[in-house]
Amino acid sequence: MPTTSSAPGKVYLFGEHAVVYGEPAVPCAIERRASVTVRERDDDRLRVSADDLTLDGFTVEYSVDGESPDVDVPTPLIEAAMGYVDAAMESARAAAGRPRAGFDVEIESDIPLGAGLGSSAAVVVAGIDAAARELGCELSPADVAERAYEVEYEVQDGEASRADTFCSAMGGAVRVEGDACETLDAPDLPFVVGYDGASHDTGELVAGVRALKDEYDFAQDTVAAIGDLVRQGEDALADGDVEELGRLMDFNHGLLSALGVSARSLDEMVWAAREADALGAKLTGAGGGGCIVALDEGDATEMALSLTPACVETFRASLAHEGVRAE
Ligand code: PMV
Repeated sequence: MPTTSSAPGKVYLFGEHAVVYGEPAVPCAIERRASVTVRERDDDRLRVSADDLTLDGFTVEYSVDGESPDVDVPTPLIEAAMGYVDAAMESARAAAGRPRAGFDVEIESDIPLGAGLGSSAAVVVAGIDAAARELGCELSPADVAERAYEVEYEVQDGEASRADTFCSAMGGAVRVEGDACETLDAPDLPFVVGYDGASHDTGELVAGVRALKDEYDFAQDTVAAIGDLVRQGEDALADGDVEELGRLMDFNHGLLSALGVSARSLDEMVWAAREADALGAKLTGAGGGGCIVALDEGDATEMALSLTPACVETFRASLAHEGVRAE
C-alpha cells in the first residue's frame, strides 16, 4: 500500500524580508496543498513523477548511488526539483534507520511554484512525512518541521529561514523570529490570492534588499519598521481585529515597495484589491513577481482581480488549521 501525506502552502501576513535580519514574521498556512505519495520499492532506486507542478511534468528514475537521470527537460529544472525530493527522501531514510530504501514518489500540487506560496516547503514536508510513514516511522509535525528546515537549508545553500517549513508542517498562523518558532491563535482569515503567473528568484531579491540596507541607514530603518509593524500585527491577530490587520498589510506593502521588491504587476493587483474595498493587500513572499494576498470577506476582490490584466489566477484561500497530515 502506498502512503500519501499532504502539507499546505502559505502566505505572509507580515514580515517577509525583515525576517532575514532577525525581525519577527507571521506566515499563515493556506488551504492549497501539495500531496506526496510514496511506495517503497524492492530495490534501492528512486523514481519521481510530478505531473502537476505548473512547470512541465517530468518523470525521472535513478539509483541512490547517484547516476544522472536520463530525461529530456532542462537540467536546472530537474536538479532544482530533484534536489528537494532527494534530500527529503534521504531525511526519511535516516529517520527510519533504512539508509538504502528505494521509493516510487508521486507529487501533486496546487500551489504555484516560486510565487511566494511555499510550494517547495510543502513538497518537502509532505515528502518526509509520507516516506517516513511508508517505512513504519511516525514523526511528529515538529520533527517533520525540523527535518524539512534542514533539507531546505542544505538544498538552498544556507539561504533558508524556518518560516515556510515550520508553517507548512504545523499549519495555522505561526511566528518566526530567528530560530524561535511558535504557533499562534488566529481567527479564520478571509484571504484572497492574486497570481501574476511569474516566478521569482528569492536569493536575488534578498540580495537586493541586503545591498540597500548596507548602503542606506533609512533602508535599515525600513527593515526595523517592518519589525515594529509585525509586533503590532500580532496584537491585532490575537484580538481578531481583521480591519487593523488589513491596515497593517497595506502599510507592510508600502515598506516592501520602498525596499524595491514590488513590481508593476504586484502593485496593479494590490490596487485592484484596495479599490474593491479589500481590508488590506500586500505582496507575499520575496516579491518581484508572483502573488499578492488580500483580506476580503466578500467576493469583490476576487472579482476585481479576475478582471485585472496583470492577474492570471485568483482564488480564495482560507487559513489551513491543519499542517502536514496523512491522506
Ligand atoms: O517567496 P518565498 O516563499 O521564497 O519567501 C521568501 C521570504 C523571504 O523573507 C524574502 C526570504 C526568507 O528566507 O525568509
